[in-house]
Amino acid sequence: MASSKKAQSVSPLAPLGIEAAMKAKEDPNSVVRPKIFDEFALTDRVGLVSGGNRGLGLEMAIALAEAGAQVVYCFDLSKEPSEEFKASREYVSKLGNGSRLEYFCADVRNQELLWKKAEEIGDKEQRFDFCIAAAGILKPHVECLEYPGHEFRDVMEVNTTGVLFTAQAAGRQMARFGRGGSIILIASMSGSITNRDHAWVSYNTSKSAVLQMARSMACELGEQRIRVNTLSPGYIYTQMTTAYLDKEPHLFDKWSGMNPLGRLGRPDEMRGVATWLASDASSFLF
Ligand SMILES: NC(=O)c1ccc[n+]([C@@H]2O[C@H](COP(=O)([O-])OP(=O)(O)OC[C@H]3O[C@@H](n4cnc5c(N)ncnc54)[C@H](O)[C@@H]3O)[C@@H](O)[C@H]2O)c1
Repeated sequence: MASSKKAQSVSPLAPLGIEAAMKAKEDPNSVVRPKIFDEFALTDRVGLVSGGNRGLGLEMAIALAEAGAQVVYCFDLSKEPSEEFKASREYVSKLGNGSRLEYFCADVRNQELLWKKAEEIGDKEQRFDFCIAAAGILKPHVECLEYPGHEFRDVMEVNTTGVLFTAQAAGRQMARFGRGGSIILIASMSGSITNRDHAWVSYNTSKSAVLQMARSMACELGEQRIRVNTLSPGYIYTQMTTAYLDKEPHLFDKWSGMNPLGRLGRPDEMRGVATWLASDASSFLF
């Protein structure tokens, strides 16, 4: 009875932790070495990051490459990759671990294109392991009672519908290969708390919907070992937020004071958590 329960799931890196310690006790000649960073490794894995041309998306794509991902496909709007992307691609190629970044021009609102491109990636790589849906937009302040319909739809279309299409594209390939996978949807603290100072009804609503989307998808896909989680960053200094901070410098102190650390986040502070979520180190997180 005990052994069949144990066999429900076994880490590919087993034995770990206490089990490893007990084995080492039984066999004093066994080789003992740290394994915790092996659990975070993404060696040979393949995936996509939307919004990967700059900002948090690109920052996380580099981290996944550093963790050993074979290739991270970065999807974004512009036809040509940015200078930042090109420098990052070059940087990754010099890491010496065989990882690479690739750029693909895709609008996350185009379901057909996303599904097709992900399928092509699957055909080529014969696997699909992770996905970060980071493409997002923030439209200028307009009070909720005046918020124009087309602007509201635009934000929902990218931040919610586009996130679904991205997750679907990757999830379909994960299901096809049957090896599980990790889907990470970038929400925002704005999806959980409501900031009284900002007229951000579209952004807040779109991010809140992503939280529920993740719960729903996680419940449907869990049996296939496809995990779906969200990340909800606080304010981080990127081009999205500089649009506000540069115009209204008083917001810098105000936003900094809104969290216990008293400062804005740095894009590189997404590196660890993104790698953790994409890797087996978070295998029971859903
Ligand atoms: N910066 C913050 O403080 C913060 C906080 C919480 C959540 N977020 C979220 O993190 C994600 C990344 O934000 P960022 O700060 O890096 O912003 P950013 O504006 O620097 O990057 C967003 C990227 O998404 C791309 N994008 C926009 N619409 C797209 C579309 N239709 N198809 C494909 N790509 C599209 C943009 O071209 C851009 O490269 C967003 O979802 C954002 O809402 C950011």
